[in-house]
Order: sequence, then C-alpha cells, then structure tokens
Amino acid sequence: MTNRDFREFLAVSEQQGLLRRVSQKVDVTWEPACLAKWAFQALSNDDRFGLLFDNVEGSEFSLATGVLGASTHTYALALGVTPEEINQRWLEALGAPHKPITVKSAPCQEVVKTGKQVDLGELPIPTWTPGKDVAPYITTITVTRNADTGVQNMGVYRTMVRDARHVVCNLNPGRHGFIQASTYLDRGKPAPIAWVVGTEPAIHFATVANMPAGVDEIEVAGGLKGAPIEMVKCKTSDILVPANSEFIIEGEIIPGELADEGPFGEFAGYMGLVSPKPVVRITAITHRKDAIFYGYSSQMPPSESTILQSLTNAPLLLKILRDDLGEKSVHDLYIDLTFGGLLAHGVVSMTPRHLGHAKKVGRLLADISPLKRITVVDGDIDIRDPLHLEWAMNAHYHPARDTVIIEDVFFPMGMDPSVRIDAKMQDMGSKVVIDATQTIDAGETSLPPKAIMEKALETWKSAGLPEFEIPKRARLRIDQS
Ligand SMILES: Cc1cc2nc3c(=O)[nH]c(=O)nc-3n(C[C@H](O)[C@H](O)[C@H](O)COP(=O)(O)O)c2cc1C
Repeated sequence: MTNRDFREFLAVSEQQGLLRRVSQKVDVTWEPACLAKWAFQALSNDDRFGLLFDNVEGSEFSLATGVLGASTHTYALALGVTPEEINQRWLEALGAPHKPITVKSAPCQEVVKTGKQVDLGELPIPTWTPGKDVAPYITTITVTRNADTGVQNMGVYRTMVRDARHVVCNLNPGRHGFIQASTYLDRGKPAPIAWVVGTEPAIHFATVANMPAGVDEIEVAGGLKGAPIEMVKCKTSDILVPANSEFIIEGEIIPGELADEGPFGEFAGYMGLVSPKPVVRITAITHRKDAIFYGYSSQMPPSESTILQSLTNAPLLLKILRDDLGEKSVHDLYIDLTFGGLLAHGVVSMTPRHLGHAKKVGRLLADISPLKRITVVDGDIDIRDPLHLEWAMNAHYHPARDTVIIEDVFFPMGMDPSVRIDAKMQDMGSKVVIDATQTIDAGETSLPPKAIMEKALETWKSAGLPEFEIPKRARLRIDQS
C-alpha cells in the first residue's frame, strides 16, 4: 500500500532520513533549484534525500522538490516495498487496476480562488536552471479531457509561467495531452486543463508512465495504491482531479494562441530549443489551507525526473515484453537512472530458448521503446549491479558477433543530443542491441564450491572479521559454483 497522500509521504520520508528540511529563508528564483542540483550531482543514490523548504521568501507556502524521485529508496518507500520489489509491485498493479470514485468535497478545495483572485505569483514556483531558464516553470501532473468521450489523460508537461494568470504549456504533438486538447481546439473551443501539485505518490508514478493510449493512468494509480483514487470536479471545468492533492491549478487553453516556450534546461543535460506552444488562461487556484507546493527537479541527469521515468517505464516495458509479446523467458528489466528512462540504457535478463533469441528480444525492446542502448544478459546476472553487469559483458560479449546496430531511428523533439537538430532539419538517430548472454560454454567458474564458501563464512565469523550482507551478485555466483 502506498502512502495515502503527499504530506504523509513527506512525514514518513523525514522520519527515515530521506527528506531534509531547509528552514532558512530561500529565494525561489535560484536557491531551491541549485540545492536540488547539488543533491543530485554530488550525493549517491544511497545517500540522497529530498528537500522541503519551509521559508520561501514572498510566499506563505512550503516548497518540496526532489522528494519522490530522490533515489530508488524514496521511490520504493512511496510504494511501500523494497527497491528490489519495485518491478513486481508495478506488475501486480497493472494486473489489478481500480476505477476512481468521485467525491463532493475535497481537501484540495479548502481554499478556492477564481477570476481576479488568481495570482500565480503567490505560489513558490522555482526557476529550475537559474541564469539560463527564461521563467519559473510548473513541473507536475497535467490533466486534459476528451471533448467527445470525457476520457481524461494525465501526463507531465512542463509549463512556463508567463504572468500572474497565463502560462505556456509544453504540449507536444503526439502526446496524449495534445490529442485530448485538440478535440476542443480543432473546433475553436477553449480546452480545459488542470495541474495537480503534490498528490498521492501512486498518482505521481502512474502519470509519469508512458502508458499505451487508452489506458487510464488514474486506474493504474488505483492499482498501485490498492484502492480507488478519490476524485473531485474542478471549480471552473468538468475535469476531475485527485481529492487529496495539495494544490490544483485550473485553466483553459486559448484556441489559436501560441507563444514562445523556453529556453528550459532539458532532462538530457542541455538547454532545450525555443518553440511556439499553447497559451493557457488560469481560471482558478484551489488548495489545502496549509498547502505544500511541489515541483519535480529535472535538467542535468541524474535528476528526479530521470529516476522517476526510469523506475516507472522499466516495469511497463517488462509487462509488454512478457505478457503482450509472449516473451515469457524474460525475467527482469532495468533502465539506468541517468537519461529520463527514455534514450537510456535498458538491461534485460532472460533465459534464451533458441539461437538468436536474446538478439530478438533486444530488437523487440528497441522497437517498443525509446531506449537507445539495450543489453541482454542471462537470468543469473544481477542487472542492477554494475560490477556484475560489466563482468557479464567482458566475459560473454563478442562485439563482432553479438552487436546489432539499428539505423534510421527518429527521436522526436530533439531528445537525443547526439543527433543534429536545428531550425531547418533533424538527422536520424540509431540504437544498439548487445547480446551479452553466454553462448559459449566457458567451463567452470573460478570460485570454490558453494559448500566450501559457506563453511568459510563460519571461519570469517570466528576470526572476528566485520559482518556483511551478501550482495545478490555474490549469492548468484556462489549458487553456481
Ligand atoms: C519532470 C518531467 C517533465 C516532463 N516534461 C515533459 C514535457 O514538457 N513534454 C512532454 O511531452 N513530456 C514530458 N515529460 C514526459 C511525459 O510526462 C511522460 O512521458 C508521460 O508518460 C507522457 O504522458 P502521455 O503519454 O499521456 O502523453 C516529462 C516528465 C517528467 C517526469
């Protein structure tokens, strides 16, 4: 069971040393983002914590950032599992979605401001790459609605604050939010939109996921929570939003009005290009009485956005490979935490059943995902342990025989910095599949047999040497000896 709401997650994180409070006064135009950058650039996954700013100059609200996606530990804590159990928890949730329920009153509407009362300047919205970003940005869940079916979509689309009552939303063509908004805009009607700030962790995770079209993120969030999500109708539109949220920002996309969006520090580690995007009029801000503002930290990896997307998209792809494409001999899938879970390195563990099977699975994964590099290893490799993975590569991978290069791959939106993109043209990208499964019998491994190694543990203890936890890598190797 995940935490019931965002503030409960913050409290549990703080108790466990996974959240630190900053109580001195901070300037939201640079300090929160820069402290988050230090947390991600300087601290390891095991040492990192989220940040809660209690005293933001000029705002009555606290600001949290880098909290849900500080590390594999915070992500697992929010799901109520250990880091090793994240994929399993996701697979269970995908198999048991819960439809949401609608409630009449909600904590997120304790305070309601509409019309001229609306002022985005009252919220502690950070500038994420101080000195380079053009404006403060809202980086959280965006909800849109289909005019014909009423079906909603939830995704994260960064949103630039233009003035007290207008924003410019990075809705990219092809994204589900853009398709939903078009059902209004194509008829010349304003499209309702809402941003959900600080809500139940299950919702944050489900809305980051690259779900196939037609899968309702809020039902999957219910699956992760193990109970239906409570939703409430917005004050100025028919959009339903999670009742237990900290803030809801409501708006309408103005038909035909576009404005320059960016420059903004991108997840790939470079500044993004400026392009015209839809302008939104903000129609309401609702919130809890003592609401906590939240924005995802992104930009130079590793970052909160890369960790959230890697850990979320891995189990989704695992499910597609195993259940939808029938590759039952695939055991596990891990995406490195550095590149948005998109053009990153995906590592699959499997038991190949026939000649070329590992390459086939690697190519399938390359086809169904934006992953740029895919490595396939045997089931007895700990794919989350770089030492074990490097050994498998060095011992089993024959570059001339085991490499598949996939050419002419289109990476949209200039996502891949290795591909040239300018105002006039964009080159095509490429992908690589590496089969690092063991295809040659290299004989016995060079560790003593399991029985002797276990006996040696008794000697270790009686010699008074310091205790240790046996890493999964060592256990897997010793089991084979
Ligand atoms: C912090 C953060 C910022 C993001 N910003 C954008 C964005 O501006 N535009 C975009 O298309 N995707 C962005 N993404 C990725 C999408 O939110 C994600 O792929 C999601 O699944 C898209 O939902 P959809 O498939 O329903 O469109 C962002 C993700 C995160 C975590």
